[in-house]
Amino acid sequence: MNLLRTKSVEQSIRDTEEPGHRLRRDLSALDLVVFGVGVIIGTGIFVLTGQVARDKAGPAVAISFVLAAIVCGLAALCYAEFSSTIPVAGSAYTFSYATLGEFPAWIIGWDLVLEFALAAAVVSVGWSGYAVSLLDDAGVTVPAAVAHPPGESGGVVNVPATLLVLAVTGLLVLGVKVSSRVNAVIVAVKVFVVLLVIVAGLFFVKGANYHPFIPPSESNPSVEGGAAPLMQVLFGITPVSYGWLGIFAAVAVVFFAFIGFDIVATAAEEARRPQRDLPIGLIGSLVITAVLYAAVSLVVAGMQNYRKLSSDAPLAEAFKAAGHPGYSTVISIGAVAGLTTVVLILLLGQSRVFFAMSRDGLLPAWLSAVHPRFGTPYRSTVIMGVIVAVLAGLIPLAKLAELVNIGTLFAFLVVSVGVPILRRTRPELHRSFRTPLVPLVPILSVLACLFVMINLPVDTWLRFLAWLLIGAVVYAFYGHRRSRLRERQS
Ligand code: ALA
Repeated sequence: MNLLRTKSVEQSIRDTEEPGHRLRRDLSALDLVVFGVGVIIGTGIFVLTGQVARDKAGPAVAISFVLAAIVCGLAALCYAEFSSTIPVAGSAYTFSYATLGEFPAWIIGWDLVLEFALAAAVVSVGWSGYAVSLLDDAGVTVPAAVAHPPGESGGVVNVPATLLVLAVTGLLVLGVKVSSRVNAVIVAVKVFVVLLVIVAGLFFVKGANYHPFIPPSESNPSVEGGAAPLMQVLFGITPVSYGWLGIFAAVAVVFFAFIGFDIVATAAEEARRPQRDLPIGLIGSLVITAVLYAAVSLVVAGMQNYRKLSSDAPLAEAFKAAGHPGYSTVISIGAVAGLTTVVLILLLGQSRVFFAMSRDGLLPAWLSAVHPRFGTPYRSTVIMGVIVAVLAGLIPLAKLAELVNIGTLFAFLVVSVGVPILRRTRPELHRSFRTPLVPLVPILSVLACLFVMINLPVDTWLRFLAWLLIGAVVYAFYGHRRSRLRERQS
């Protein structure tokens, strides 16, 4: 029983050449940057900004965005080395198979399922909220029963969210080139709207709203018990909002806003020149969105007192409060378009991880067969699409975003650990992008991820550990026996 058998880098690359298991190499560096920006700008900026400023950080939410960007930047430097060395679908899953061994890789794959599938469900629920409010502006009232999940505002099933996921799944089956073109148009609309918020919003900024920029910390009953950040419990701190602890707790939430640049790495196998294009895609999309986020959060916090910011549609509401409802309709349209691409790319990343895992025999093999005409892994795409559609119809988004964050941070952490390991075990491999200052940057990345993780609530930790435990059981009963690597090695 060898839980730590590793799959060689050469084997991973050879597997991508197998007939019937080959994805089309179709994406340029620009396509990858557009993919990144398309998935990064979403619910984080359109929904979470206001909620977090109001409840956790005040106007200093801009600091939280910058800190979260630094955490992601460190991880991106590690991702870039890995993805330019092992340009194979599956991202952190593939990397850890090559470095840490099969069981850790399985756990990471399982963890990525949590990240991508759950995040896609969360974002489509956010999309549904904006879509319903736009329809409302147009005079069409969607009944509450079909607009909310059970247990929220009289909902039974969130039909718009479910339909969105199914439509996006259809696009993905038709092929990555089609979906990346559709995506490019929508990304342009979204970036335009974000720039509009920054430029138009500047005229309504009032200096008084920035005082105090970091509100003094306050105790807050809504962050007590299981909802308290693990760090505050571990160090016996009375749970608080605002102040620097509030800024840190906010980092753990707005981190969601940056999720997605890592998905660029999951498209490694479809990039035309992965060695050059992947680092550009990863780091380029991260830098662009970090600048936009810092600017938007500063402008919005300057437009309205942080305690008055809306938690559903803060960008649109800030313009309404300033007496300009016309802007808010445009912003809502941008949000609807923008969140669509987020769901699209999250599902794409998900299907590629699934694809890589089943090609390795850790999930049933027939899942990884590629469609003869479209060249896409259609079976895993459709199956995951249906599961995500059901989740999107039935779950509220609130706590789930935090669960997505902890899963993602864990994956970042493992990738960062893997970089110095692969340097030692395979020093001769060609690396067209090398992480600077190894092992310093990977170590800082690990510490940064850990720090953000302990700022997440105790409840979130418990849910995450439960998910990993289920994964371990599935591995023991399926993947461990069916592993192709195990067959080869025996
Ligand atoms: N970063 C993506 C968003 O904000 C997941 O929606």
